[in-house]
Amino acid sequence: MNPKILYVCSEVFPLLKTGGLADVSAGLPPALRALGADVRLLLPAFPGVVAGVTPEGPTLLVPAGGSPGLPSGLGPQATSAHGPTPWLRAGRITDSGVPVWLLHAPGLYERSGNPYLDASGQPWPDSAEQFAWLGWAAALLGTGLSAAWRPDVVHGHDWHTGLAFAYLRELARTAEHRPATVFTVHNLAYQGVFNASLRPRLGLPDSLFHLQGLEFHGHISFMKAGLKYSDAITTVSPTYAREITGPEQGCGLDGVLRQRQAQLHGILNGVDDAVWNPQTDPLVQPGFEAGHMEGKAQAKARLQQRLGLQPRPDALLFSVVSRLTEQKGLHLLPAVVDELVGRGGQLAVLGSGDAAIEQALRACAQRHPEQVALTVGYDEALAHSVIAGADVILLPSRFEPCGLTQLYGLRYGTLPLVRAVGGLADTVVDCSLENLADGSASGFVFRDLDVPGLTAAVKRAFALQRRPAEWLAVQQHAMALRFDWARAAAEYLSVYRAAMPAPARA
Ligand code: ADP
Ligand code: GLC
Repeated sequence: MNPKILYVCSEVFPLLKTGGLADVSAGLPPALRALGADVRLLLPAFPGVVAGVTPEGPTLLVPAGGSPGLPSGLGPQATSAHGPTPWLRAGRITDSGVPVWLLHAPGLYERSGNPYLDASGQPWPDSAEQFAWLGWAAALLGTGLSAAWRPDVVHGHDWHTGLAFAYLRELARTAEHRPATVFTVHNLAYQGVFNASLRPRLGLPDSLFHLQGLEFHGHISFMKAGLKYSDAITTVSPTYAREITGPEQGCGLDGVLRQRQAQLHGILNGVDDAVWNPQTDPLVQPGFEAGHMEGKAQAKARLQQRLGLQPRPDALLFSVVSRLTEQKGLHLLPAVVDELVGRGGQLAVLGSGDAAIEQALRACAQRHPEQVALTVGYDEALAHSVIAGADVILLPSRFEPCGLTQLYGLRYGTLPLVRAVGGLADTVVDCSLENLADGSASGFVFRDLDVPGLTAAVKRAFALQRRPAEWLAVQQHAMALRFDWARAAAEYLSVYRAAMPAPARA
C-alpha cells in the first residue's frame, strides 16, 4: 500500500526560503513520491508561495475551534480581526507538480519578506495564531476534512507545526479517522514559546497544559507539543538525534527527548541534484566534474573578479554561505582572518544576521580589501557561485542539526572545514593521515569551539594545499560521495510504516 502523507511545513524552495528547511521541503516530497507515497504539502499562503502554486481542485473551509461538530474549546477561535473563515485551496507547485494545500487566513499570511520576523527582526506579534491555524488545518485534514483525500500520516516540520499534534490528539478521541503522526525537528533552538494567556485564543484545553503536556516553564511550547504528542520523532542527523537527548544541546527539552528516545530517529538530509550539481548547474557554467576540473578553476576566477578579490589562482579561497548567527560559530571567524590572509589565503562571506558578526567581518574586509569580501544579504545565485568557486567552505558551528552547505561543498569539490557536531560530524571525514591514507578523507574537522581550534584546522587546510596531488584526491573523493534524497525518503517511509497501525501498513 502506498501511504498518503500530509507534509506540513512553513517554507519551500524556491518559493519561500529562510534556510535549509525550505531545501528539505523541496527535496524530500518528490523523493517520497518517486517511491510511491502520495504526498501533499500543506503550507500557509504566504505571498511567495501563492505566486508559485497553480490552483487546481477544491476549496475547503477551515472551521474555527468551537464550530458545530467540533469539540468545544479546542482549536483557534474565530476573531473579528480575521474576518471570514480561513480556507484551504488545493493546487500544485507550478515547477515541480507536487500537490499542495495552501491555507488562507485573512490578515495572517499576506505579508512579504520573512515569514517569522518583521522588518525590525522581531517575531510577528501574531506568530502564535499564524501557526496555530496551520496546525489546526493539518489536524482537520488529518481527521478527514477532505473526504476525497484522507492522509495515513501527518508529518510536521519544526515548531511551526507543533500544535497539529496536540489538536490531533484531542480530535482523535471522537474522530473516525486517526492518522499516524511524525514530527521532524530541524532545529531545537527555535521552539515557538508563547504566553500562557493565549490558551483560550488558540483553543488549547487545560488538559494539555501541564508538565507532561505542552507547558514549558509556565508558557505554551509549540515544539514541546510536537515532541509529546507525535507517534514518532525524527531529526536530521544521527549525531544530532543523540546530542539533543543531553543537557548541552537539549535546549531544555532533553528530558522530554530522553523519555521518547525509542521513537526518536536521526535521518540525514539529502542534496537535490536538480539544484546542486556542478555539471548541470545553470548558475555555474561551464560546469565541471571530478576528472574535469577546468570549470572549477574558471568559477574561482569569476568569483574573485566579481567580489573584487585579487585574481590569484593559487590563493586558498575560504568561503561562508550562511545565516550569520552564534549557531554557526561565525563569531570565531574574525579572529582567524589575519592568520588566514597572512598565509596567502582569501575569504568570501555571503550571509546576514547578527549585527555584531556582520560588523566584525566588515572590519576584516576593510583591513584586507583585496583578500576578504563580505556580501551582506540573501542571494541564491551568488551562493552557487561561492560554493562552486571557493576551495574551502567553513562551518565552525556551535550546533548543526544537519547542515546542507557542507553537502553542497562536497559535491562541488569545495572541501568543508567543520566543527565535529551534529550532521557535520556525520558527513565530513577529517584529512588525518590515516584517513588520507585509506582514501576516506573529505574535509577538515575540529572539535573545540574556540579560536585556536578553528585556527589549527585552517592551518591544516594550508598544509594540504601544499600537497596538490593529495588535495585533488580528497576533492575527487568528496565529489563522488552521494547524499541523495532517495535514501532519506526510504528511511522516512519506514518510520511512517512503523507509526501506522498494522492493517494500514500492509
Ligand atoms: P540553516 O537551515 O541552519 O540556515 P542549512 O545549511 O541547512 O542551514 O541551510 C542553509 C541554506 O540556506 C542553504 O541552502 C544555503 O545555501 C542557504 N543560504 C544561507 N545563507 C544564504 C545567503 N546569504 N544567500 C543565499 N543562500 C543562503
Ligand atoms: C535547520 C538546521 C540545519 C538543517 C536544516 C534542514 O535549519 O539549522 O542544520 O540542515 O534545518 O534540516
